[in-house]
Amino acid sequence: MSFPKNFLWGGAIAANQAEGAWLEDGKQPNATDICIGISTKTPSIKFNEETGKWEMALDPNKAYLSHEGIDFYHRYESDLELMAGMGFNSFRTSIAWGRIFPNGDEEEPNEKGLAFYEKMIDKMLSLGMEPVITLSHYETPLHLMTEYGGWSNPKLIEFWKRYITAVFTRYKGKVKYYLTFNEVNNLQRMSLVAGGVLSTDPAFRDKPYDAPLKEKWQAYYNIAVANAWTVKLGHEIDPGYAKIGCMISSSSVACYPYNCDPENVMGAYQNARNITLYMGDTFCLGIIPGYVKRIWNDNDCWPEMSEEGIQMIHDYPVEFYSFSYYMSSTYDKEVAMTVNTGGAVGRKNPYLKYSDWGWAVDPVGMRYMMNFIYDRYHLPMFIVENGIGLNESLDENGEIHDPERVQYVRDHLEQVHEAILDGVDVMGFLYWGPIDVVSAGSGEMKKRYGFVYVDRFNDGTGTLERKKKASYDWYKAVIESNGENLIPGFKHQK
Ligand code: BG6
Repeated sequence: MSFPKNFLWGGAIAANQAEGAWLEDGKQPNATDICIGISTKTPSIKFNEETGKWEMALDPNKAYLSHEGIDFYHRYESDLELMAGMGFNSFRTSIAWGRIFPNGDEEEPNEKGLAFYEKMIDKMLSLGMEPVITLSHYETPLHLMTEYGGWSNPKLIEFWKRYITAVFTRYKGKVKYYLTFNEVNNLQRMSLVAGGVLSTDPAFRDKPYDAPLKEKWQAYYNIAVANAWTVKLGHEIDPGYAKIGCMISSSSVACYPYNCDPENVMGAYQNARNITLYMGDTFCLGIIPGYVKRIWNDNDCWPEMSEEGIQMIHDYPVEFYSFSYYMSSTYDKEVAMTVNTGGAVGRKNPYLKYSDWGWAVDPVGMRYMMNFIYDRYHLPMFIVENGIGLNESLDENGEIHDPERVQYVRDHLEQVHEAILDGVDVMGFLYWGPIDVVSAGSGEMKKRYGFVYVDRFNDGTGTLERKKKASYDWYKAVIESNGENLIPGFKHQK
């Protein structure tokens, strides 16, 4: 009747939003390095008609904050110590593929990259934190996209196998939890970063952030096969230790019909399936669902598949379901649905409050989503992203008081506890952005999630100094009590 004994408490970040050092120690550019915000649809890339290839085209007048990030690459030791100060027993970050294989298609890995993550992983272990490693967090090497078109090309499966083999071999016995592709379901709506797809189709020259349906579904299939290979190779190389999970943006599972018009009820379900559940169904059930094949039939966009690939998908499903949840949405057939890094956006829900960035704050939606997914897959569930971005600055005493963040996390953790009481098997809760990082969606520093403030601003200025916010001690107390202090009368429950 409580948070489980070995519950994983911690936080999550991603290499591309924190490390900086974007071209250090051999690393080459990746998908997010050319974006100032992945939702902004303005990637810095141009098609060269002479060579017939895409080329990186950075704007010298713009600040690409992710190129320096919060300098986690050089400060990870003291930053991890700050995290350990809150009592974290786990920490999630990603390995930037391009540090290990800079262009993606080399034969041999880059020793400097492997050594860097080894030191980081060892530091986590020395602080008593279980490393939770995302293998691809919107970080497909750019060369694989400009040279091969990205994940719509089956060659990437071979490059991926080389990469994960190097990772599993080097960190054997050290990393227990691997997540394959971050928010992989976003590939339909953010194909450039979430799908690593870059099309040479002339119709997409002025919108490289998108790609033809056929290429996106080909990427879906290739990624599904690569996901299966990850499970297989992870178990072969690190048997009995490495556990492999998917990572799915799951806010859109809590997509409510705006009213009881049956078309809105069906529309809400279709929306949840087409932008979220399709990936979970593939990765967890090992199937390509009928409603996906219907999309292929209706749009004449069947990907090329092999019997061996379909068998791999079937034989190697993931072992746990990890996810992000930030907000819910409503479906109204009269209003076009859009999407951002938080999930789907439809008609405004009159029952909910919205964050500074227009994200619906809906803790009950999280309980709903967790029950829905658990009933569907019966796999352990791991919350690896939940949090709130706020526009914050130091007050006159040089402090930051963030009661809104405390309220958000408290309310969501209460609903996680409800889900546990409902019977959902929950592995842990990793708060998104326990230290301020560059926003994925908008590429800015202004949108701060941290329990720790970082002195860096949208124009690229700042000392990078770290400072604890008021929420730091609050989260520490939550972890210390294994969540008990959140639950009034908790000890007396039967
Ligand atoms: C998720 C991503 O989409 O949401 C993270 O996995 C991201 O990378 C997080 O940072 C919050 O989104 P944003 O746009 O507020 O940074």
